[in-house]
Amino acid sequence: MEKYVINGGNELHGEVSISGAKNAAVAIIPAALMVNGVCRLENIPQISDADMLLTILTHLGCKIRLINKSTIEIDSRDVSLQDSPYDLMRKIRASYYLIGAMLARFGKAKTTMPGGCNFGVRPIDQHVKGMTALGAEIDIRNGFVYADTPDGKLHGNRIYLDKVSVGATMNIMLAATMAEGKTVIENAAREPHIVDLANFLNSMGADVRGAGTDTIKINGVEELHGGTYSIIPDQIEAGTYMVAAAATHGRVLIKNVIPKHLECISAKLRETGTTVEEFEDSVLVTGPEVLKKANVKTLPYPGFPTDMQPQMGALLCMAEGTSVITEGIYDNRYKYVNELRKMGAEVQVDGRIAIFEGGQKLTGAPVMACDLRAGAAMVIAGLCAYGTTYVEDIHFIERGYENFIGKLTALGADIRIADFPENEKNSDGAKIS
Ligand code: EPU
Repeated sequence: MEKYVINGGNELHGEVSISGAKNAAVAIIPAALMVNGVCRLENIPQISDADMLLTILTHLGCKIRLINKSTIEIDSRDVSLQDSPYDLMRKIRASYYLIGAMLARFGKAKTTMPGGCNFGVRPIDQHVKGMTALGAEIDIRNGFVYADTPDGKLHGNRIYLDKVSVGATMNIMLAATMAEGKTVIENAAREPHIVDLANFLNSMGADVRGAGTDTIKINGVEELHGGTYSIIPDQIEAGTYMVAAAATHGRVLIKNVIPKHLECISAKLRETGTTVEEFEDSVLVTGPEVLKKANVKTLPYPGFPTDMQPQMGALLCMAEGTSVITEGIYDNRYKYVNELRKMGAEVQVDGRIAIFEGGQKLTGAPVMACDLRAGAAMVIAGLCAYGTTYVEDIHFIERGYENFIGKLTALGADIRIADFPENEKNSDGAKIS
């Protein structure tokens, strides 16, 4: 079993370049299925979620050509639903975008219920509500989602989302792009990746307006054509390095970012005493000698992102004073707290609220990456802790962070990947249980 082995205590210094946004890529790759032509996608992150979606597209008949490490071409001229790889679909959350993309292209879809990180119940009722309003008949049974259209196509409609949902907003956008007539999505999510998906679709011939506001209007078009599109930088990857720099009292220039997308994170870090300087496409983060407490509430964009909550939690264990985190999106996103406690953190959780008694000196321990961002939080805690931290279940982390070990090592972190049990010894040569 592979684990990350981290010897804590090094301040992070230097420069790191941010990769393409995971949550944009995992929607844009399925969207390429709708294009009757060749899409050239630039700034694709090298992460396992993107790889898995590309494999799914290959099974559906797309021809994929690797141009360089972050640029691919997807030729979707000859696709069908014959060979759908259900086992792969089941493994990732973003497979739900195949419902919208397949409905748009074929007028029908069959996928599995989506997988992904476990933060409690994650229903897809708003996706179903949207597709149904567009005229699809949706049937969920035995772990599969069946979608069909009586006359082979979708029809535009007005849809009000009962919950602000990133996935439902993007999925309905996909489906509506080639529906007959006009669709209006109200109470839409406004995350940067929603704007990115709209820009991608428009560059392929779609007519999507208002993305980034809470009302998105889509005039359906008959067909999408090929083109070239470059994916935006990853807000959460950037935020993770910002928090890591602050927590280790380091100084890191985070390059290839859109500083506007990071404002919610920059503002919160400044409250902890961290200095964040913004440049055109980079931010310079300097951690203070002593971190100060901060209260955090996660909200849909432009609020503080839930996907930065665990990383911020790791930092707040070390900040002077008592900090309160309120999780505004998910019912159960504090599983990582148990792992932090193994390192000496003092945190009380009551439902969606977590209270961090700060000023703790964390100590290295064997811990688990409970999910993708929880894993990133354990790495940040490990970088700050005295002694050695072993992070298990790193496959979660590799779903969303390109070359995490390489980027952190270049910043001066003492982190490596090791195969266990063969090398199951710590730096003193003692066995790890
Ligand atoms: N919700 C419903 N019904 C729905 C859809 C969502 O009740 O039909 C609820 C969810 O249970 C949740 C809230 O609405 O409580 C928001 O969920 P949303 O649909 O916005 O989340 P998602 O589309 O499932 C995406 C990202 C997540 C990120 C959330 C919130 C992808 C593949 N996943 O999930 O990313 O946490 O938006 O920003 O884009 C991550 O990257 O680590 C990650 C978990």
